[in-house]
Amino acid sequence: STTPVKVAVTGAAGQIGYSLLFRIASGALLGPDTPVELRLLEITPALKALEGVVMELDDCAFPTLAGVQIGDDATKVFDGVNLALLVGARPRGPGMERGDLLEANGGIFAPQGKALNEVAADDIKVTVTGNPANTNALIAMSNAPDIPTERFSALTRLDHNRAISQLAAKLGVPVTEIKKMTIWGNHSATQYPDLFHAEVSGKNAAETVGDQDWLAGTFIPTVAKRGAAIIEARGASSAASAASATIDHARTWVQGTPDGDWVSMAVRSDGSYGVQEGLISSFPVTVKDGQWSIVQGLEIDDFSRGKIDASVAELAEERDAVKGLGLI
Ligand code: NAI
Repeated sequence: STTPVKVAVTGAAGQIGYSLLFRIASGALLGPDTPVELRLLEITPALKALEGVVMELDDCAFPTLAGVQIGDDATKVFDGVNLALLVGARPRGPGMERGDLLEANGGIFAPQGKALNEVAADDIKVTVTGNPANTNALIAMSNAPDIPTERFSALTRLDHNRAISQLAAKLGVPVTEIKKMTIWGNHSATQYPDLFHAEVSGKNAAETVGDQDWLAGTFIPTVAKRGAAIIEARGASSAASAASATIDHARTWVQGTPDGDWVSMAVRSDGSYGVQEGLISSFPVTVKDGQWSIVQGLEIDDFSRGKIDASVAELAEERDAVKGLGLI
């Protein structure tokens, strides 16, 4: 098609943005035949830096980049957008309590949800990367009553990719041999990367590993604390990998999942697997024709049950906190 797809990115002058924008513009999200128009939202003091990033986008002369608009007004930037990648968020500052963090992010994601509700295209799909991603997505969704709830999601694809990479390294196989990885719950340290339903070269991953101590004592904490390990090593939080996962997530949502595989996406729970309805929680999902469905019928053993319940309890606490603040 020749009509450009309008892709909004918030926090576009940030670290993730600096990697994400160039990959979207080069066709990594929508392919080499689909022109893309970028709509970049920033806060006013970051607009000058963003202008510099746009100069660099120009200088790449990407054949698929049909246009770039920038601004600090969400109702202008989101006008007619088909995909919204909400990356910009308020990080936790020194001495900031969780309630303060949720409130500060509510001040970002409630108005952005309202703006999307007002001006986005009818086929809008929203992906929240900015943390706390699940609850920020819940806030945006709750403030956009005219957009179907299934158009909101939060990113757990980075955790999913980390889990695939860790498992492949443990078993000495290429990442392409790993299928049906699942991250359950919140994008936080309570997340549950599940090897009991994953497959390695067609065989059950937990059985192939055959080492519950490694699974519980090494694999799960390594995946769940990977973000902190990167901050420790790099002196800055993961950005290129977060951008790459954001692309993977949005591309899968548009293009679908291959037969015999699924991905992890945090989406609105319909009560599947005992996850309270209405929470934005990570599930195994398949995608077809632009619509995700939660994979049904997986058996959940006691170990997995406990891990899923703990992460979902955290999501319910976050939901109650933002409800108490009047944000949803
Ligand atoms: P960063 O601090 O480099 O960039 C964030 C940008 O957002 C800044 O340029 C800031 O000006 C902008 N921003 C703040 N409020 C805004 C608003 N109301 N509208 C538009 N832009 C706004 O941060 P970085 O490294 O790019 O990370 C962005 C977010 O992604 C953080 O919340 C981080 O925790 C999260 N993250 C999520 C991951 C995931 O897997 N879900 C992985 C890695 C990071």
